[in-house]
Amino acid sequence: MSKIALDNSKCNKCGLCVKDCPADVMTAGSGGFPEIPETRRPFCIRCGHCEAVCPERALVLQFRPADKTNERPKTESLAPEQLEAFLRYRRSIRDFKDAAVPRQDLDAAFGALKYSPTGGNSQGVKWLVVNGQNEVRKFTEIAVDWMKFLKESDPEAKLKFSLDHFIEAYEKGNDLFCRNAPHLAVNYYSPLNGSGATDAIIAMTQLELLLSSRGIGTCWGGFFIMAIKSWKPLQTALELPEDFSVGYALMFGYPSFQYHSVPRRKKVQVRYFPER
Ligand SMILES: Cc1cc2nc3c(=O)[nH]c(=O)nc-3n(C[C@H](O)[C@H](O)[C@H](O)COP(=O)(O)O)c2cc1C
Repeated sequence: MSKIALDNSKCNKCGLCVKDCPADVMTAGSGGFPEIPETRRPFCIRCGHCEAVCPERALVLQFRPADKTNERPKTESLAPEQLEAFLRYRRSIRDFKDAAVPRQDLDAAFGALKYSPTGGNSQGVKWLVVNGQNEVRKFTEIAVDWMKFLKESDPEAKLKFSLDHFIEAYEKGNDLFCRNAPHLAVNYYSPLNGSGATDAIIAMTQLELLLSSRGIGTCWGGFFIMAIKSWKPLQTALELPEDFSVGYALMFGYPSFQYHSVPRRKKVQVRYFPER
């Protein structure tokens, strides 16, 4: 529930705050001024749209005052061609320089994730960032232990994921798990949060783009996340809370080399309905 202060002298009764409220909490009340009926108050998801959409700045929400900004969105600054090219040229990076990403760049990228969409504006995605190649390797070792266990206990998995190859490669110094990355991000969420799993993947996708925009290469840790989800010793070592579910893992760092062309991909299948 949010407290909202309305300055009637500024409000022009345009009704945008009522129209834009995702939870249909706001109504045009007495004299056409917006208000939240008592019975609808518990359904406010504190998304802040009413305050942000108001052209007269007549509405002021009474929570997180330090986070209030009157900055106007600069939507025109990112051209579609730029964004499309950015997405086309992003690649999964599997060879990293042994160089740390400066803390201020990490803070900026992770800080921007607070604007990542979440179901019901739940904002419940939490993060763990492992810093340093040696630190990442400590966890990779534990993931490799899981692979060794799996190899013995699940003959089907052994063949499907060519576990022998993975383990052998790791022992020869070729880390197919975390790619000797200097950083590893893992996100997690409460299983009580109905949209938590999706929120975590969206946030991870946004993190990937935020890091890429700073020249930092990323790779989704599919094998590593399988290890986290299946192997208690890895969950314990990462000090993940018992009452949380893991979203995904992303390795990142500065790429050792660049790509000189764009790889071939299938055409995206889209069916327009109705076709025009
Ligand atoms: C959910 C997911 C899991 C992935 N897991 C791994 C992984 O464990 N190891 C790896 O090297 N790449 C992994 N990748 C990267 C994919 O192989 C890569 O996105 C795909 O080959 C396309 O290449 P591109 O990202 O450079 O376009 C993963 C990607 C996704 C989306």
